[in-house]
Amino acid sequence: MLKERRSVRGFRPNPVPEETLRTIFSMAQLAPSNCNVQPWLVHVVSGNAAQRLGDQLVERARAGAAPTPDVPLTMAYEGEYRSRQIDAAKALFAATGVARDDTDARFASFLRNYRFFDAPHAAFLFMPGWCGMREAADCGLYAQSLMLAMTAHGVASCAQGALSHYADIVHDQLGVDVNMKLLFGIAFGYEDTTHPANSARTSRLPVESTTHFHC
Ligand SMILES: Cc1cc2nc3c(=O)[nH]c(=O)nc-3n(C[C@H](O)[C@H](O)[C@H](O)COP(=O)(O)O)c2cc1C
Repeated sequence: MLKERRSVRGFRPNPVPEETLRTIFSMAQLAPSNCNVQPWLVHVVSGNAAQRLGDQLVERARAGAAPTPDVPLTMAYEGEYRSRQIDAAKALFAATGVARDDTDARFASFLRNYRFFDAPHAAFLFMPGWCGMREAADCGLYAQSLMLAMTAHGVASCAQGALSHYADIVHDQLGVDVNMKLLFGIAFGYEDTTHPANSARTSRLPVESTTHFHC
């Protein structure tokens, strides 16, 4: 499953059957967490709820409004991290034919985030406001478990920090208490294999550069 999962940014409109959704989200509950506190709260939007939320996010972004995230945004990556960020963006733009200096096309491409890349569903991950980095890590484990469970059921996904940019809209639309902090969203559904964005691929560092074995 690990090798099969990748970020998909073009989906078919048909929804995932409710029974499959329940199976996938039940499997994700098996994710481990510090002291088994299971700090994640998940809201899934589909159909009209997804449409309404997407409309509002796009409208806000088009207006050039400043983000209102619950959790501070990482403003700029530096050094080797910045290089990897650039490589990932280059792979996406090369796949979709967006030129580096075409700011309109880049903005249009970015706006697709707020429509969940046309996915029929999006999951929003929250954690209680008292949580720290350890609990955020728990939520990361949950998210990967969820995406792997999706992969196992033929469901494609893309984690999206962009879905946390206008957190006030998400709280309002979903009726989630402001004491719950929005971390990120995950678009999911069935892959549109003809969408150019889905031919983009990313690479990983060799294991030696991140992992040290001691005896
Ligand atoms: C927490 C998180 C937030 C992400 N946010 C976005 C996003 O806002 N938009 C996007 O297109 N991809 C987003 N991604 C996807 C990453 O770009 C992607 O995982 C990375 O480039 C590796 O590619 P892969 O998932 O295909 O292996 C996010 C991934 C994670 C884990």
